[in-house]
Parts: sequence; C-alpha cells; structure tokens
Amino acid sequence: MARLLGLDIGTTTIKLVEIEKNGKNNKLVTANLATSPPKGLLSEAAFDQAALVEAIKKIVSDAHITTKIVNVGLAEAAVFSRVIEMPQLSEKELASAIRWEAEQYIPLPLPEVILDYQVLLKNKGENSSNMDVFLVAAPKALVAKYENIIAQSGLEIVSIEPEAIALNRAVMDSSLSAPVTLVAAIGAENTTMFVSKKGNVSLTHSIATAGNALSRALSVDLGIDQMQAEEYKKTYGIKQEELSGKIGSSVGPLLQNLVSEIKRAMSFYAEKNKDAEPIRRIVLLGGSAKLPGLVVYLAEELGIETQIGDPWQKVSETQKLSALPFEPILFAQAVGLALKPL
Ligand SMILES: Nc1ncnc2c1ncn2[C@@H]1O[C@H](COP(=O)(O)OP(=O)(O)OP(=O)(O)O)[C@@H](O)[C@H]1O
Ligand SMILES: [Mg+2]
Repeated sequence: MARLLGLDIGTTTIKLVEIEKNGKNNKLVTANLATSPPKGLLSEAAFDQAALVEAIKKIVSDAHITTKIVNVGLAEAAVFSRVIEMPQLSEKELASAIRWEAEQYIPLPLPEVILDYQVLLKNKGENSSNMDVFLVAAPKALVAKYENIIAQSGLEIVSIEPEAIALNRAVMDSSLSAPVTLVAAIGAENTTMFVSKKGNVSLTHSIATAGNALSRALSVDLGIDQMQAEEYKKTYGIKQEELSGKIGSSVGPLLQNLVSEIKRAMSFYAEKNKDAEPIRRIVLLGGSAKLPGLVVYLAEELGIETQIGDPWQKVSETQKLSALPFEPILFAQAVGLALKPL
C-alpha cells in the first residue's frame, strides 16, 4: 500500500489529489482545489512566492492529507520535450549518446537544464530498427524554484513531471487496440497537446491560447468586466446564435487558432509516422474542455471523433468528489501525477 500526492499549480487554480495504490487498485483518499495567487509561478519576487507557499499550505491543510510525498506537475510550456529517433543502443550507450543528441534539440545550454529521457519504442519495426526516445529538458532554475516552494510548503518532492506525462497516465489506455489519440488540455493560459499512442506520449505541443483569452476577448468586445465575461462564456459557450452572434464573432478567431494548431500537430505527427496508424480521436481535458459547444465545434472543424476525457477512470471511491464544488475534470493533471508508480 502506497500513498502519493499529485500537485498541479495552474495559472488560475491549484489542484491537489491523494491516491492510495494497492496492487492494481487506485483509491481516492482526498482532493482539493484553491485559487492560485495572481502572479504565482511566473513571478521571481519573494513576496509572490511566499503567497504561493501560503496558498499551498492552506490547500494541504484543508484537504486532510495522510502523506507528504508529492509528485509535482511542470507546465508543458516551461519544458522542452520531443520524440527523437535513435539507433539501437544499450542503456549505457544511450545515456551518453543522448547528451549529444540533446544539444541539437534543446534551445538552452545543456549545463542550464535537467535532462531526462524514456525509451518509447525499442524497435520501430517494418522499415526501421531504430528506437523512439522521449527527451525532456527543464530549466534548472525553474526546477529549483519548484523545489524551494514545495519544501517551504511542508511537502516532500519525490519527482517533478511534465504535464503531458501526467495527463497521459490518467486518461490513456495502453492496450494494443487503443486508437491513437490527440489529447488537448485547454487550461486558463495554456493549451497542452500531445499524441498518445499505445499508452505512450509521442509529440507534445503547447500554445498560449486557452480559456482566459476567450474571456478577455468577450470582455473587450462586449464591453463587460472579466467576471461577467467568464459567466457569459460558461453559460453560452461558443454558440453562434447567442447575443445576436456577438459571442461567436468575438471568440471565433481564437477558436480558429486552436483548430489550426491542432491541425498542425496532426499533420506533423502524420509526417513523422508515415507507416503508423493515424490519429483517430481527440480527447479534451482542462477546465475549458467544458466550454458549451466546443466538442461539436472541434469535431466538425477537424472531421474527427472528439470527446471530453474522464481523468478519474482509473480511480475508485470518486464519490468523495461529489462533496466538492468543483468540476472533476479540473483534476486531470493532479490525478495523473498521484497515479505515478512509486
Ligand atoms: N464550464 C466551463 N466552461 C468554459 N470554461 C470553463 C468552464 N469551467 C472552467 N472553465 C475555464 O477553464 C479555465 C481553468 O481551467 P484549468 O483549471 O484547467 O486551468 P489552469 O490549470 O488554472 O491553467 P493553466 O493550465 O493554463 O495554467 C479557466 O479559463 C475557466 O474559465
Ligand atoms: Mg492547468
């Protein structure tokens, strides 16, 4: 029996989940959500970091956790990750070869980053015996900031993982018959996309168009304040006919940008995986996945099956969530983080 916390420090909200693992069974122990302080992780000021520490301490104490061991999420926009093709190498050979490879792909000096990698496919098969390796680099300074904030909050970091890895763990099916899926997690400031193939992440892409941009556009175009814009957005969504078409024409360009970025990721994937199965499904996560009308809109624009993901599908005793006034989908990243095998 092992218990682990997953902590997702989002731009608008902080999410915390504790899961108990007992063999194959994952049981929800507790979950909680709180508003992020305005500047949060973006700020370098001691004052803002102290506010974040206080917010984490509060969410931790309100949640009545039973462990302090935590896996923390790292926003995809803050890390560099990509899938690279390497010849067949032993683990030892790969460990040294990967640094040379990384130099080509990572836009920061290597001494300034923490490098990690994972072999996805040992043998690509058919036309190539190369292997696919998932390479991730995170700026050392950013990781140090996380470590500092978490230590001051009274928790113990076991690992820090990129958002896509955590989301994938929560929603993906590793069976051979599982369709290749593009997951788009549409948060407040960022949308993180990745392709999940047989349970593995391949290709990640992050853009700075998400829920807050929609609210800002509504606020400016309709001359209403941000709070009201947020309410309009949640009530009317992207229905073209509402408010004599004003909502549709306000958020339309942003949604078109989202569509074209998803298309870009899809064609990039198709180009790199010519012989492999194409993307067959889109799964939406993040708070903005709930935007009324979005699923139908994306399915029509992209011509592909689109659905909202269930981040709790691998967890039992989720009835505890009904006592919380929050949408269960908001916890996707925190769930994936807490599901990491110890
Ligand atoms: N029912 C809803 N309809 C539309 N949008 C919603 C709904 N519920 C939440 N949102 C939007 O979801 C966003 C918050 O989602 P989430 O908590 O996933 O973001 P975050 O993790 O704080 O941000 P980020 O991941 O970008 O740092 C906000 O922009 C909010 O307006
Ligand atoms: Mg988020």
